[in-house]
Amino acid sequence: MAQPINRVFSGVQPTGNLHLGNYLGAIRKFVAMQESHECIYCVVDLHAITADLVQDNLKQQTREIAAAFVASGIDPKSHIVFNQSQVREHAELAWMFNCVARMGWLQRMTQFKEKAGKNAQNASVGLFTYPNLMAADILLYRATHVPVGDDQKQHLELTRDIAAKFNHDFAKRIKEAGHGEDGYFPITEPIIEGPATRVMSLRDGSKKMSKSEPSDMSRINLTDSADDIAKKIRKAKTDPDPLPDNLEDLKGRPEAENLVGIYAALNDVTPDKVVAEYAGQQFGTFKPALAELAVEKLAPINTEMRKLMDDKAHMDGILEDGAARAREIAQQTMKEVRSIFGFLG
Ligand code: TRP
Repeated sequence: MAQPINRVFSGVQPTGNLHLGNYLGAIRKFVAMQESHECIYCVVDLHAITADLVQDNLKQQTREIAAAFVASGIDPKSHIVFNQSQVREHAELAWMFNCVARMGWLQRMTQFKEKAGKNAQNASVGLFTYPNLMAADILLYRATHVPVGDDQKQHLELTRDIAAKFNHDFAKRIKEAGHGEDGYFPITEPIIEGPATRVMSLRDGSKKMSKSEPSDMSRINLTDSADDIAKKIRKAKTDPDPLPDNLEDLKGRPEAENLVGIYAALNDVTPDKVVAEYAGQQFGTFKPALAELAVEKLAPINTEMRKLMDDKAHMDGILEDGAARAREIAQQTMKEVRSIFGFLG
């Protein structure tokens, strides 16, 4: 079977609230790619149990991510939206990739080192092999492009290494089975660039906006009301200087730079244009403008998300339908992969 040439896959974990960083850095990119690609967007619930085994409200968190996808403009009919655990083939291919990937490759993963911290001996084996499951997510659909944040770059490189080793070690069988000269799995391209891939904390411009920061004032959640959004922007940390007329002079002012970046991304313009427009203005002027813009862009998403979340049966139906269509592709891949490995049956 020929490989697809423009299939997108990406995943988001159902752990904690989605915030503006997830929206501008990932989900908005997912929306844009629908025009030109066949897209598969997955709520990666199997990944959610790698760090904390016992998850409260996994079902609800899963629905929330899927609702955010749909509310942001992902069309679950023309594309696929589903949750990972409903398609068993993810776990099966991940097992096989446990045998393709080398210990040394995984031991280099910086995210594992960060997440496991000092107590790596007590981290789950799943946290260690997490990147193999991620590679399985992508390659199960032979996806060619993966929009992700820059923190996932190393995992994408590992996915490429797994695909290349599989293609190399099984080259003869892959050719004999008629899959062509380029190997069975594509060498997937990460798509990392784009506006505002890094949205920083509203309380500390040197830290990424994150669901794990204790203060809720540090982030704008997609479920925040218009009042909350306005309040958080009004209280965001800044410095006493007015905005400069060029980006160079924003260097060394991380909080100011972050707010300008958020404004630019929400309004789909370059940061240059924002400083040109607000040159010499105080934050007393800029912050209300940013708050108004943020509410204007996020309120419709928020409203639609709430509507979707209120209708669980509808949301679950979207995920089941997506899973059924994902499963069809996944089952075909696994049939071919089992045959390449040489399993009986
Ligand atoms: N590891 C990704 C993250 O934390 C989530 C993820 C899992 C993913 N599987 C994926 C992203 C496949 C892209 C493609 O952001």
